[in-house]
Amino acid sequence: MLKVAVLVSGGGTNLQAILDAIDEGKIRNAEVVSVISNNPKAYALERAKKHGIPAVCITRKACGGTEAFNAALLKALKDCGAELVVLAGCLVVIPKEIIREYEGRIINIHPSLIPSFCGTGFYGLKVHEEALKRGVKVTGATVHIVDEGTDTGPILLQKAVEVKEGDTPESLQRRVMEEAEWILLPKAIDMICTQAVSSAD
Ligand code: GRF
Repeated sequence: MLKVAVLVSGGGTNLQAILDAIDEGKIRNAEVVSVISNNPKAYALERAKKHGIPAVCITRKACGGTEAFNAALLKALKDCGAELVVLAGCLVVIPKEIIREYEGRIINIHPSLIPSFCGTGFYGLKVHEEALKRGVKVTGATVHIVDEGTDTGPILLQKAVEVKEGDTPESLQRRVMEEAEWILLPKAIDMICTQAVSSAD
């Protein structure tokens, strides 16, 4: 079983998709050992608790600054024995020391087809607002490995989603989540976990 830590900041629908996929056997060889949020109000924390998964909240404010926050985050990952770190709607810029420590073992879901509508400032609804402004007919989601840039790491999986006449940023965000994110992220985790297990055989 590969130990997975999930980092969240908000509602946690992607976390839920991961937990459901594990329960349904769609993700094999993985267990979520910890859910870590930088936002005390994140509903994702409730989802973790309901599932009996240890949930911790680490905030910059409580830590007293960025350096202490980064150290606390790294410690939380080490303490839970994470072998794979999944950013599921996580709004924290992952510090370099963590990226180096977990090189190639941190993945992120981004709600567009990278390299479109990604990079600094492209998060949440903003991504979909920009896609609509540009008038693209197709958008989607991307799962990629996290490197030291913003949304620049190697792409693992992508899925296209149609933009429809009359879409609002909210309706498009919902369709991208339903048709792409909730499918893609569990699929990527299953891919990594099954490969990790078979390559260790
Ligand atoms: C999702 O669109 C995710 O891609 C983005 O944040 C949104 C909310 O995710 N980064 P969740 O419901 O908290 O999983």
